[in-house]
Amino acid sequence: MKNPTIIAIDGPAASGKSTIAEKLAKELNYLYLDTGVMYRAVTLAGLQRLPTLDDEEAVVRLSEQVDIDIRQPTKDDGRMYDVLLDGEDVTWAIRSAEVEAHVSQVSAYPGVRAAMTAQQRRIGRRGRVIMAGRDIGTVVFPEAELKIFMVASPEERARRRHIENLRRGLKSDYNEILNAMIKRDQIDSTRAVAPLRPAEDAHIIDTDGLSIDEVVERVKSLMV
Ligand code: DC
Repeated sequence: MKNPTIIAIDGPAASGKSTIAEKLAKELNYLYLDTGVMYRAVTLAGLQRLPTLDDEEAVVRLSEQVDIDIRQPTKDDGRMYDVLLDGEDVTWAIRSAEVEAHVSQVSAYPGVRAAMTAQQRRIGRRGRVIMAGRDIGTVVFPEAELKIFMVASPEERARRRHIENLRRGLKSDYNEILNAMIKRDQIDSTRAVAPLRPAEDAHIIDTDGLSIDEVVERVKSLMV
């Protein structure tokens, strides 16, 4: 299929979704939307503004009120885009270990998912969008013409994240990353609403041992 309206890219943490989606979007002149950013921004807002994230009702209410915006990057510090939370630049704050430790809890709340899914559908309907996440092909856009599910071994994914952290000058511990990642994947895959799983018609790409360009070519070969 040529020029699909929506390309859905799902997969576990650090499976390479963002890198591939960003490169593909540039080459094809599509908009890239990383939906994980939205769940991270709600989590950060909750950590900053609520006494506890265990109060599901309060978290859901907050997710319906916050204004999350993803825009062209205004700084040359390795970012792919600016993330604004009620107007404040939170591009790096949403990548903190604290957010990572709580984002699976927040994204398992059905009310939070409903609020984020509605926003994602609004953006996707404009067309020419590559959307990356966990449930794009199964829930947000089950009608997407092209669905990719990216996988890679936990060790390879933790290694990628570790290298990324070191490159950004952050403190990083490989074993800590690996354990946190396995835990997050487990929660994301077993939650009741919109769990991480491939859609029946998704093309599964195992990125272990493949270069970024090889993965991009594989996706493009599905578009002819
Ligand atoms: O892709 P990421 O690591 O930035 O995503 C952060 C978390 O957000 C992930 O652990 C689960 C959640 N998420 C989700 O539930 N649904 C999505 N479509 C995207 C992310």
